[in-house]
Amino acid sequence: MADKKNASESEHARRVREMFAGIASRYDLLNHLLSGNTDKRWRRLVARKLQDALSVKGARALDVACGTGDLSLALAKATGAQVVGTDFCRPMLEIAARKAKTNVSSEIPFVEGDALKLPFVGESFDAVTIAFGLRNLSSVETGLEELFRVLKPGGRAAILEFSRPVVPGFRALFQFYFARVLPKIGGVISGSRGAYEYLPDSVSRFPDQKRLAALMEDLGFAEVEYKNLTGGIAALHLGMRPLS
Ligand SMILES: C[S@@+](CC[C@H](N)C(=O)[O-])C[C@H]1O[C@@H](n2cnc3c(N)ncnc32)[C@H](O)[C@@H]1O
Repeated sequence: MADKKNASESEHARRVREMFAGIASRYDLLNHLLSGNTDKRWRRLVARKLQDALSVKGARALDVACGTGDLSLALAKATGAQVVGTDFCRPMLEIAARKAKTNVSSEIPFVEGDALKLPFVGESFDAVTIAFGLRNLSSVETGLEELFRVLKPGGRAAILEFSRPVVPGFRALFQFYFARVLPKIGGVISGSRGAYEYLPDSVSRFPDQKRLAALMEDLGFAEVEYKNLTGGIAALHLGMRPLS
């Protein structure tokens, strides 16, 4: 039974890793194009929300499932903290490393690693982030447990992810764009229609705003709150690892 579960998790990880490797070179272009650059604003907000947690001298932040590193770079620029990015897809990390070289003054190590088994000791970061990564994991719970584990007591987690638009008419309109229009444009530009069909599929399986907040609380996060972004197309969830 455990073997079967492990095999299906490995298969899931392999498919997700290959999919991102296949679209890595077009990933940034498509992100900015398909969101009308709104994604940049969302990531800057994450960095602003973590400014206090990262204001202490020598503060460290971990950006999990960092992909091509846009959030890692935004964090480094906005806070001056020591940022580490981690992802299990090497082609995405290679792009992140190239961008960091020319865009930020501090060095950002990009480390290959699985979000379900982070290659870092516990209680070692003042803040952890994951942007558009959590819904890709075979277990959202294990992903959250790992974020919690590597946070120092008192440290802050920020989870940016697609969510459920809150206004019904807008939700229907957005669902049409997301499920029908976006896979076509994404497919043509990236050469992988499958990856952009997977996107709305994975979002539909992901917990909505309230369920994700409840899950974070169940797993021990304190001061859990969320903010809907652009009518709930995305949501930013924040939580703290309690001091004791
Ligand atoms: C949609 S991209 C998001 C990248 C980046 N955080 C951003 O905001 O653009 C999802 C990323 O999650 C990574 N990922 C998915 N599952 C992972 C896992 N189990 N461990 C590490 N990275 C994972 C993928 O390789 C991909 O780079």
